[in-house]
Amino acid sequence: MTIQIPDETVTLTGDIRMPLLGFGTWQINGKDAVRATSAALEVGYRHLDTATVYGNEGEVGRALKDSGVARNDVFVTTKCPPDRAGRELDTLRESLDLLGIDHVDLWLIHWPEEGTDHAGMWHSFVEARESGLARAIGVSNFDLELLDEVTMATGVAPAVNQVEWSPLLYDAATVAEHRERGVVLEGYSALRGGTLDHPTIVGIAERIDRTPAQVIIRWHLQHGVVVIPKSVHEERIRSNADVAAFTLTDDDMEALDGLGRP
Ligand SMILES: NC(=O)c1ccc[n+]([C@@H]2O[C@H](COP(=O)([O-])OP(=O)(O)OC[C@H]3O[C@@H](n4cnc5c(N)ncnc54)[C@H](OP(=O)(O)O)[C@@H]3O)[C@@H](O)[C@H]2O)c1
Repeated sequence: MTIQIPDETVTLTGDIRMPLLGFGTWQINGKDAVRATSAALEVGYRHLDTATVYGNEGEVGRALKDSGVARNDVFVTTKCPPDRAGRELDTLRESLDLLGIDHVDLWLIHWPEEGTDHAGMWHSFVEARESGLARAIGVSNFDLELLDEVTMATGVAPAVNQVEWSPLLYDAATVAEHRERGVVLEGYSALRGGTLDHPTIVGIAERIDRTPAQVIIRWHLQHGVVVIPKSVHEERIRSNADVAAFTLTDDDMEALDGLGRP
């Protein structure tokens, strides 16, 4: 059965187009990582999310190479953990070697950590972008204060902040504050934390004959928030991407938004 995959993108600084839908690869390793990433590329995902600490960059790279999809047609993100502060560029080169590519589309500081020189790390990230090893650079799990701190230190704002996000965590102020700063919001773990069983989400899904996961993914797209669902199951990989042929009504969007923080 054919599926309809969204092709919407969000434009990052430097006129870089990032697909709103990506494939998450956390906790997928070894053969499963090759299999799942290959399935995602076959289904039509054109955005892959990995990280140094996932230990699967080699497998993600293998799937990418074997897919036959042109490198420039796939948006690849990886992340640098804070314990690599001072060795950022070596870490990125290791990632690129494993991925089998000469640049990433987005490179993120994976998370902040007490005692880390985040501004120093961010300086190295700017250097990576300037030398063409990363087309765009961003952060993950940063609060606004830290976002502003690294921006002030370098004059370069992160293009993206990847944070945990779902209807249950929705907060209009967070969306607005990122938008004001020109920082694109990217959500992760959208299908965790009880979202798939939430009665409001299940109710909407049943009414429109879609899965709860599809409702959640669609909700991100309609908000312009990047979403990167992960699955090792081919059927879920397919159905999670099959979200272009329906829209949520304004009432549904409002009901989903209402599940978040007041
Ligand atoms: N920056 C960070 O700190 C950070 C943290 C966490 C995640 N991430 C990124 O975000 C991605 C997504 O987050 P996540 O891995 O936490 O998982 P997620 O996308 O929220 O999915 C959670 C679980 O839901 C299951 N699932 C997927 N599709 C489903 C469906 N249609 N119906 C029922 N269950 C379904 C999957 O299990 P099965 O595999 O068994 O299907 C998966 O393990 C990660 O893979 C990673 O790339 C980043």
